[in-house]
Amino acid sequence: MGFFQRLFGKELTKERQHKIERIILAHPNPMQSVLNEPHPIITDNTETAPLETNTKNDTAEPAKTKESPPPTEQTTFKNKQHTFLTPKALSNMTLKKGHLSFSLALPYPCKSLWPSIELALTHNLTQLDEVKKVTIQFTTHVVAHEAQQNIAPLPGIKNIIAVASGKGGVGKSTTSVNLALALQQEGAQVGILDADIYGPSIPTMLNIHDKPNSKDGKSMQPLSAYGLQVMSIGALIDEDSPMIWRGPIVTQTLTQLLKETSWQDLDYLIIDLPPGTGDVQLTLSQQIPVTGAVIVTTPQQIALIDAKKGLKMFEKVNIPVLGIIENMATHICSQCQHEEAIFGEHGGEEMAKQYAVELLESLPLDKHIREDTDNGKPTVIAEPNSILSQHYRSIAHKVAFKVSTQKQSYANAFPKIEILNT
Ligand SMILES: Nc1ncnc2c1ncn2[C@@H]1O[C@H](COP(=O)(O)OP(=O)(O)OP(=O)(O)O)[C@@H](O)[C@H]1O
Ligand SMILES: [Mg+2]
Repeated sequence: MGFFQRLFGKELTKERQHKIERIILAHPNPMQSVLNEPHPIITDNTETAPLETNTKNDTAEPAKTKESPPPTEQTTFKNKQHTFLTPKALSNMTLKKGHLSFSLALPYPCKSLWPSIELALTHNLTQLDEVKKVTIQFTTHVVAHEAQQNIAPLPGIKNIIAVASGKGGVGKSTTSVNLALALQQEGAQVGILDADIYGPSIPTMLNIHDKPNSKDGKSMQPLSAYGLQVMSIGALIDEDSPMIWRGPIVTQTLTQLLKETSWQDLDYLIIDLPPGTGDVQLTLSQQIPVTGAVIVTTPQQIALIDAKKGLKMFEKVNIPVLGIIENMATHICSQCQHEEAIFGEHGGEEMAKQYAVELLESLPLDKHIREDTDNGKPTVIAEPNSILSQHYRSIAHKVAFKVSTQKQSYANAFPKIEILNT
């Protein structure tokens, strides 16, 4: 590199920038295997000139290998939805004295994967003669995706994810709080709505004792726990007083809890549903814009029968099922380490195969999970480095990635224009 180029900051010529961009954009999606599909299909236009590489060591640049060719300007992604990094993800690129710096906005929260992405990109980029050092500022940029037809998005919420089960007591609420917290730890803005009007358990699991405030007397401020925005009927009523609900009141309460809470810039709102396919589920499918549903089940037959009903209900109302979580799959004795499938084996896996949906994770029956939620400090907060938390993080990655592959919603992308007759 010439003295004058360095002096006048012209290290980042257009040509160099393109070369750098191509390497960055060719980075494979860490979640690609989740879709059981190959890496985005890239068709090289053979008429274009071969890519100018100018690398120190050709064999060391993964971007040039056959399996993962670098996209050229003529490159077409056959399946745009599944591409990981698009040119829009890149910004603030500078190259000074061999120090390349840029911002990278990832389309789903995956903070724990940033170091490995940075390592791989640094390795590939420093193969270029002009790059000696790489600094990446990672951010998370989640967009809104379409929900059921004709249901308008809600203000302050980009994507709603419902957590459901057929049978009660299979671990929906436990999974919901851990999923919400894992998404948040991975870089998203997350809220949780306890839609279990009959038996709200989220306040206990998140150690919430406050009542929500209202600034304007019309809407409620969400409660806050471990950085999550939270709303639950459990925070509004007395713990011990029995609530006897009639059908219409239940649905009205749910929509009020959802719509009269001032959610702030949520990437995801997790809705923890009561068990079954009753009034709450019906309201959800007909009146609330849901991007996708996650079904929790134990591997036992009676839970699976009900889980299948839940899955079919979502299919009927056009809410995509993002996947199944098999909970309490096996128990490992803390004394002798003997592993036992208390609720049967492979139930979730077989159901996933039968209905062609993803088995997102198989979680063990573990005393810590129960103790942590009972203590109001879910496992991903109480034991963030445990294997259990890794399971929940893996669910969060897969769920967020699956949401990112849904059709994007532009409903809130433009300001609403009203034409007034004056
Ligand atoms: N993987 C697990 N290992 C151990 N205990 C668990 C696990 N998942 C959930 N639990 C415990 O099982 C009990 C029921 O879980 P949870 O309340 O989450 O179920 P639910 O499906 O939400 O129930 P409901 O249908 O009543 O809403 C809780 O005490 C919880 O701590
Ligand atoms: Mg529950």
